[in-house]
Order: sequence, then structure tokens, then C-alpha cells
Amino acid sequence: TTTDADALRTPIVAVLGHVDHGKTTLLDRIRGSAVQEGEAGAITQHIGATAVPLETVSEMAGALVDPDDFDLPGLLFIDTPGHHSFSTLRARGGALADIAVLVVDVNDGFQPQTEEAIDILRRTGTPFVVAANKVDTTPGWNPQEGEPIQRSLEAQSDRAESRLNENLYELIGDLSDEGFSADFYWRVQDFQGNIGIVPLSAMTGEGVPDLLTVLMGLSQRFLKSEMSIDVAGPGRGTVLEVKEERGFGATLDAVLYDGVIRTGDTIVVGGQYDPIVTEVRALLQPRPNAEMRTEKRFEKVPEVAAAAGVKIAAPDLDEAMAGAPVRVVRDQTEEEVVAEVREE
Ligand code: GTP
Ligand code: NA
Ligand code: MG
Repeated sequence: TTTDADALRTPIVAVLGHVDHGKTTLLDRIRGSAVQEGEAGAITQHIGATAVPLETVSEMAGALVDPDDFDLPGLLFIDTPGHHSFSTLRARGGALADIAVLVVDVNDGFQPQTEEAIDILRRTGTPFVVAANKVDTTPGWNPQEGEPIQRSLEAQSDRAESRLNENLYELIGDLSDEGFSADFYWRVQDFQGNIGIVPLSAMTGEGVPDLLTVLMGLSQRFLKSEMSIDVAGPGRGTVLEVKEERGFGATLDAVLYDGVIRTGDTIVVGGQYDPIVTEVRALLQPRPNAEMRTEKRFEKVPEVAAAAGVKIAAPDLDEAMAGAPVRVVRDQTEEEVVAEVREE
């Protein structure tokens, strides 16, 4: 079951970057969806969450990933808005991350919210890779749908390749100005001290296999070094949104980043005035590869293990707040958990 003592926690991958640099389109490419097309003004306005199973990752990564090499359940991707007015949401998304993808439009280069994202990643000590997106907009580009980037580069004229390289070297320079040593990802041996740059196109999919491969490698290392945590411990999460659901009243869309939550659990949730103590009536989980933000067909489940997006139905959630902590009361007394939530 999901609560085996030696079960691995799904790593949380935050996707950050300047407005319109292609974060949502990249996730659409990975999960096979069209969320971006439904967005008002093509602007993301909420944090999203999508559980991508290992099978999807290895299918997309193709020859670059052997699923037998990885004992990960998959990846939980967190989409964030790039528009400047949503800095709170970017910080919240960054705080949840185990690892991150910094998306940069390869022609636009570093922009204000690229810098802001880097500050968040530096502050939280989050390992990240750079997705140098929109390589297909390089003049003279010959698109290679879904191919690994080396294959794609082989199909380019010298002129197109050197135009792309100019932009990529500029990125390396910008990262170096920020104090990061960066290089094309295939030249990076130690991802701890160096930032790998993955040239790709969210539109044509070329380079996306490479990105997933690098993310799997980073996650695996991260799991080994830091994640010998108790995955079956009391659930801890963050509220993304408070939503009215027919038949349930106010519910929480939350990201569970640690432990397990079960139907019937007593939970403490940060509220507008005081922490709310209530009991979980139902747990609703988005389908694999579905964006929680737009999901319509949640599945009712008895328990959810981290990391995951989950809709929590419980009485008295009207005054719960986006950004507030959610805690399951299990090993501590209710008073202790309430005090901790009040502190947060
Ligand atoms: P915010 O969430 O609002 O910050 O934007 P975003 O970073 O999620 O960017 P989004 O996915 O909305 O993409 C912005 C625009 O760039 C859309 O018109 C996409 O179709 C386009 N786009 C994204 N990736 C690519 C790419 O690889 N190539 C090309 N040609 N266009 C792209
Ligand atoms: Na956008
Ligand atoms: Mg977006």
C-alpha cells in the first residue's frame, strides 16, 4: 500500500519563471493536456499541481530513461504564475519544492521574474535545472517533434545551431552573474554544484526527454540524500485554494508534502482568525496527469500519501485561507498541533 514504511515519497518539482516563458505549455506537453489554451488572457493565476506517474515520465523520456533504474513513484509538478503581481504564489510554490525547473525563453533571456525565481531558489536552497525553452523559434530551426535534443541538433544547419548557442551562452553568463556555475546539461557531472541547462521546446517537445531524464536523476539523488523521512507519518500540507464544491460546502485544494492523510483524521487548518480543528469527511484525488486546478473528475479515496495534490472535504472550512498549513493530528496532541499552526 501507499503507507509502507519503506515507500518512497514522490518528489515535488516546482516550475518557475517569467510570464509567458512557457511553464504551463511545458507541463501540457508532459501530461498530454491543453490547460494553457483555457487560461484567461493566457495568464496563469493560481498554483497548479499535477501528479505525473513514472510510466508517463519514462514513456516521454524514451530511450533516455530506463524505468528499472528508478524506484520513484513519479513526480508531482507544481505550476506557478509568472506574472509580476503573483509573487506570493511564486514564493509559496518555491517553498514546496524539493527540486525546480527554471523556465527561460531562450530568445528573451533573463527577465525580472526570472531573477525573482532565482532569489526564491537560492533562499530555499532548492536544486534546479534551467529549461531553455522555445528553441523552435530560432531562425532557420528545423523542428524534430519529441526528439532528444542531440538528435534535434544534428538536424539543424550550422547557422541555426550557432544562433541557438549564442542565446545559450548568454544564459550561462546571466547565471554566472547570479553566482551559479552553469553549463549545457550533458557537460555537467556534478548537479550539486552546477546548474544544467536543457535546451528544449515545450511546443515541439524536442529536448523534453532530456529534461525528464535530468529531473529523474536529480530526484533520485535527492531522495537518497534527504528523504529517509517517515512517509507514513502524520500528513502535512499547504492550502492552495478554498473552493465551494456541490454537496461538500467549502473544501481545500491542498498539496500534501509530507506524511499521510486519511478519511476520519482530525486536522488543523490555518484560518482567518484562529486555527480550525475539524475532521476529514472525504479525500478527493485528481487523476494521474490531471492538473488539479482544472480537474473535474476527482476520485474519492480513503487515504493519500505525500507528495500529492488532494481536495479535502471537511466541515467548518469557510474561514480557511490559501497559503495556510494543514496538519493531521496523530502523534501529537491536538493542542500541540494547534499551537504549531498558530505559530506558522
Ligand atoms: P504564465 O503562467 O502566465 O507566467 O505563462 P507561462 O510561463 O505558463 O507561459 P505559457 O505556457 O502560457 O506560454 C506562453 C506563450 O508561449 C503561449 O502562447 C505558448 O503557446 C507559447 N510557447 C510556450 N512554449 C513555447 C515553445 O516552446 N515554442 C513556441 N514557439 N511557443 C511557445
Ligand atoms: Na502565459
Ligand atoms: Mg502558466
